Amino acid sequence: MSKNFYITTPIYYPSAKPHMGHAYSSIAADVIARFKSIEGYDVFFLTGTDEHGMKIQKAAELNKKDPQAFCDEISKTFIDLTKTLNLSNSDFIRTTEERHKTTVIKLWNLLDQKNQIYLSKYAGWYSVSDEAYYSEDEIDDIDGKKVSILSGSKVEWMEEESFFFKLSEWQKPLLQFYKDNPNFIQPESRKNEVISFVETGLKDLSISRTTFNWGIPVPNNSKHIMYVWLDALTNYISATGLFNNQNNFWPADVHIIGKDILRFHAVYWPAFLMAANLPLPKTIFGHGWILSGEEKMSKSKGNILDPIELIDKFGADELRYYLMKDVIFGLDGSINIENFKLTINDLANNIGNLSNRIFTILDNNYNCKIPNISEGYTINENLLIDKKDFINTISNFEIHNYVKKIHSYSSKLNKYVNDNEPWNKKNNSEQNIKNILYSAILGLKNIFVLLYPITPNASISFLNCINIKQKDIHLNLINQSFKENEKLTKPKILFKKY
Ligand code: MSP
Repeated sequence: MSKNFYITTPIYYPSAKPHMGHAYSSIAADVIARFKSIEGYDVFFLTGTDEHGMKIQKAAELNKKDPQAFCDEISKTFIDLTKTLNLSNSDFIRTTEERHKTTVIKLWNLLDQKNQIYLSKYAGWYSVSDEAYYSEDEIDDIDGKKVSILSGSKVEWMEEESFFFKLSEWQKPLLQFYKDNPNFIQPESRKNEVISFVETGLKDLSISRTTFNWGIPVPNNSKHIMYVWLDALTNYISATGLFNNQNNFWPADVHIIGKDILRFHAVYWPAFLMAANLPLPKTIFGHGWILSGEEKMSKSKGNILDPIELIDKFGADELRYYLMKDVIFGLDGSINIENFKLTINDLANNIGNLSNRIFTILDNNYNCKIPNISEGYTINENLLIDKKDFINTISNFEIHNYVKKIHSYSSKLNKYVNDNEPWNKKNNSEQNIKNILYSAILGLKNIFVLLYPITPNASISFLNCINIKQKDIHLNLINQSFKENEKLTKPKILFKKY
């Protein structure tokens, strides 16, 4: 029986069309999902849209649209983005779907039965943009405007009747949990941030609002709308059918999120789950921000590289490769069009060209068939891949290193080919040339199996040319020999130069 692996992206606010930050979270999650699937796992990969709350209601009003119609329209652009980015998601959840609403209500009732919810009054700061509560010491006064120190977004005073979740009861269990599960929050640097926040003390959390109506009403008190983060976080269990006995995948192996929403995922979410006596996700990975120069890439700053425009012009594989190679996964990283072109030209030179050179010789001289190797010939040890090393790299969420390792393997293969000159009939015996070509094609196969999570289109296209169908792509193919005389097809140009 194959093992299960469950991975999620954040569910995105459909308040405006998708941007590079969304693309980045989704691509990273897809890379891990695809890698796990070729490692042999049965993968459930979830993404979706977070459609309730004041932020969305206001965005709909601004656009003079009914909130549901507004969400339908923008959520569609996020569904389209999954195709544009070539995501392998198993499902796309929208929090306005019935299956989600019933799960949230069940979770609320469960918390209520366990005496974790009470009615009181909230008075404090709230940011609609972050849909977050901030305490007095998390607020700054900039030019007479109150803003959150953490996010810089505007906060407003809010005072109303509210249901509360007894978060304060979970301070100790949470700290114990972080201690017992040192890999729960990753990367390491983010863990300390969360622990010190929890150590300073947790106040009970307001989990309902009465001043707007776009959301899920509280059972038996529909004047109250549930706090959008309680609603949103529950998506991770509603998509697995946890409460319908259909669940195969909860608890999640990893929630991939941006560092901006760490508190919700590493504090509130495990506290809700503990309080409801449900299993906790195994890892929360908070990646960094995509920057433009020194600043966060964001629509309001107008410093945006649009993922859809880039893909239209250069291709999805190219954007995926660039973001995964050039931004250290876990840290902030600045991107720009010049570096993008340098990186994808290097991909074309290092990997695309190599494939082209080898297949040209094979096509011209051997009718594109796998050459027979001499008896006892074994492939140069240097060209064998240590699969474990790649598996560990992804287990440690070092996606950037994973790509760099493929790149350096390809450089090694280029050097092997250049040193051995399979085109040079004067210095090489016919059999020698065959052996070299065989090794080179095997090396290319290794490269394109490993590249499948990063550049799925090019990989599928190359592997099809060597008679491997998409459904058969697996890490087991690495270093595996070819059938004698196997007929191959010369691949088309796999990566273009700009
Ligand atoms: N709806 C919430 C998440 C709920 S999850 C239960 C939300 N949505 S969001 O649309 O505002 O952003 C979601 C994610 O987009 C961020 O966590 C982050 O992963 C990603 N990014 C948005 N801007 C970003 C950058 N400039 N750089 C990298 N990622 C950032 O928060």
